[in-house]
Amino acid sequence: MRKQIVAANWKMNLTIQEAEKLVNELIEKLPTLQINQEVVVGVPFPYLTMVKGIIANKANVFVAAQNCYTKDAGAYTGETSVPMLKSIGVEYVIIGHSERREYFHECHKMLTEKVERCFEHGLKPIFCCGEPLKIREAGLQNQYVETQLKESLFQFSAEQLKGFIIAYEPIWAIGTGKTASSEQAQEMHAHIRSVFQGQYGADIADTISILYGGSVKAANANEIFGKPDVDGGLVGGASLVVSEFVPIIEGLSS
Ligand code: PGA
Repeated sequence: MRKQIVAANWKMNLTIQEAEKLVNELIEKLPTLQINQEVVVGVPFPYLTMVKGIIANKANVFVAAQNCYTKDAGAYTGETSVPMLKSIGVEYVIIGHSERREYFHECHKMLTEKVERCFEHGLKPIFCCGEPLKIREAGLQNQYVETQLKESLFQFSAEQLKGFIIAYEPIWAIGTGKTASSEQAQEMHAHIRSVFQGQYGADIADTISILYGGSVKAANANEIFGKPDVDGGLVGGASLVVSEFVPIIEGLSS
């Protein structure tokens, strides 16, 4: 059975005091998770250790960094490497979020290198993909996302991609309040799975967890997560409010 995951992406928000309060409240109100369900909290670098400490004894709850660098160490002022993240107990890394692709010019090759560093050091990437509005309007979203996956991931082996995590986030739905319909999400998720199936076979494709991201909220999570190829969500704005985020977690099918 593949994993179902609800991942929070706090982005560049909250002071450490606010972050501590939020994560404590989340742990207090956390619903019961099934054996194949996980909650991952993606927080700014300075808060990783604090959050990790608070969730330490919670089964199936993990912390994620929102980025990492392509090199292990060296003269790269301001960057954070995967071995550094590993040394503080971080388990997951969000890679290739559309905001990083757009504002920090992260290209396919750079994302391959980041995923590779994660594989080398045993961290789990959450690899983001998704098309801008113009591409969706032109009806080219399938090819666009397929290219993102092929260019960054197809050099890895089937063994490496077993149980891999993808987050499909249509850019036009991120932070806009516009959610893809559950049908649109299912259609793209099925396409993503078929892309992996074509390259690696159904046995591998079936192990890949594909999360939907883009204005997921308490009111729509259950419907979106109910689709057969949607294995959870990557949640930005709504993950900053415990009373919104907890029902989203509850939206995972049992
Ligand atoms: P949103 O962000 O839930 O605020 O739309 C999702 C994301 O960017 O991961």
